[in-house]
Amino acid sequence: MEFNKAPNIIGLRVLRDNVIWLWEKNKSVVVIDPSVYEPVIRYINENNFHLEAILQTHHHSDHIGGTKYLIKKWPNANVIASAKEKKRIPFQNISVEDGETLNILGEEVKIIEVLGHTSSHIAFFLNGKNPILFIGDTLFSGGCGRIFEGTYKQMYSSLERIKSLPKNTLIYCAHEYTKANLQWALNLKPRDQDIKNKLLEVEKKLSLDELTIPFLLDEEMKINLFLRAKNLEEFTFLRANKDLWV
Ligand SMILES: [Fe+2]
Repeated sequence: MEFNKAPNIIGLRVLRDNVIWLWEKNKSVVVIDPSVYEPVIRYINENNFHLEAILQTHHHSDHIGGTKYLIKKWPNANVIASAKEKKRIPFQNISVEDGETLNILGEEVKIIEVLGHTSSHIAFFLNGKNPILFIGDTLFSGGCGRIFEGTYKQMYSSLERIKSLPKNTLIYCAHEYTKANLQWALNLKPRDQDIKNKLLEVEKKLSLDELTIPFLLDEEMKINLFLRAKNLEEFTFLRANKDLWV
């Protein structure tokens, strides 16, 4: 299943709700968080592309599972991951740190560390005219990542960092969780018209078999309760409440 928003970034839906993003330029492809490899290889072969690099936001298996097989097929591909994760992201050959800038497919890509979901999660920010953020499992539309290894404070700070980016940043996360997130938010804020409207829009997209990702930072700040949280206390309440929501 494919989905276009930026014309050169394609989403492949895999597993239960993962999305693998492929960023393409002049027949070269960069893959973000390949949980699996078969649909990626198929897509690259069908389009006569070649794999230039793999970007890894964090070490969870539904983000790095396909990497081993992709680099077998394209041994010259770079695997770019946090320098803090040399053990848990084993095939990395470019190890990066917060604030570092790389040139990928001719574009400037900045590494932004966004801790909380894991102890070393990073995001990749393309600071062009139409900025793009590959955010992994830190922010979802209507939600944010679970805090597995970090602290509430770290996750809150990570969301503050995201909020400081240009408002027209298009955000690509790694899971299609939007509908369930908005249902949770509406349960807490039943009269919130912005969330209601967004849920209707999302249900329509899903009924047409479309993805609800990417999303614009500006719009997301209106409907995402975690981004709307005014302080750490409010954020902590929301995150704990969401953890108990089934
Ligand atoms: Fe994860």
